[in-house]
Amino acid sequence: MMQDNHSIIIAIDGYSSSGKSSMARQLAKTIGYRYIDSGAMYRAVTLYAMRHDLIDADGTVNTAGVINALPDIKIDFDVNGDSQSTVLNGENVEREIRTLAVSNHVSPIAAIPEVRHALVKMQQAMGKRKGIVMDGRDIGTVVFPDAEMKVFCDASADERARRRVAELQAKGEAVTFEEVLENVKKRDYIDENRAESPLRCAEDAVRLDNSSMSIPEQNQWLLNLYNSILSKG
Ligand code: DC
Repeated sequence: MMQDNHSIIIAIDGYSSSGKSSMARQLAKTIGYRYIDSGAMYRAVTLYAMRHDLIDADGTVNTAGVINALPDIKIDFDVNGDSQSTVLNGENVEREIRTLAVSNHVSPIAAIPEVRHALVKMQQAMGKRKGIVMDGRDIGTVVFPDAEMKVFCDASADERARRRVAELQAKGEAVTFEEVLENVKKRDYIDENRAESPLRCAEDAVRLDNSSMSIPEQNQWLLNLYNSILSKG
């Protein structure tokens, strides 16, 4: 475990299914930091909205309804050994927030400025004591602009869709490559083009295209970067 005076903030941003979460989680484990998956928080708000009929069958979001509901939405993370679960108002929703149904509705929810402000505030509170690895879309640009270590991850849309299909199929969800690829591309478009904190690479982030890297190679790359930042600091 690192000494407290060595604790930094590590921000890992990038496209959906770019492998950033597994890489971030592994680094946090190796160096004894807390890991926060900020995407899970947007997914939990989306699940809440779906369950409370705040999203129509055609995907139209009742924005005012979602904003009004924000004070009633409490999100926590339950850490159990190596695994971490997202908890929505006391209920473990880890499995449900990963379904394609939630993935299909999350981008418009994440584009609502009031939702972003509420979640960014929670995320900043989680990073107060540093020693944290957080992944998402705006961690290095908005949540922690002063983070000591910033990474921006990318991989081709095809490769990301292939990884996502394998992940969903392993969980028993029957999905096709085409529908997942469509979801990946649609989310990229909305994430990059929304008015409120669009997905972009922070000027001081280190870019990683991991299209042709294995998971152990990515983990090693990230650990090397962390070690080089610590040795300079
Ligand atoms: O990383 P993910 O696929 O679980 O994220 C789900 C959605 O949440 C994604 O489409 C964009 C959004 N998101 C965001 O806008 N800002 C973040 N910091 C994290 C996720």
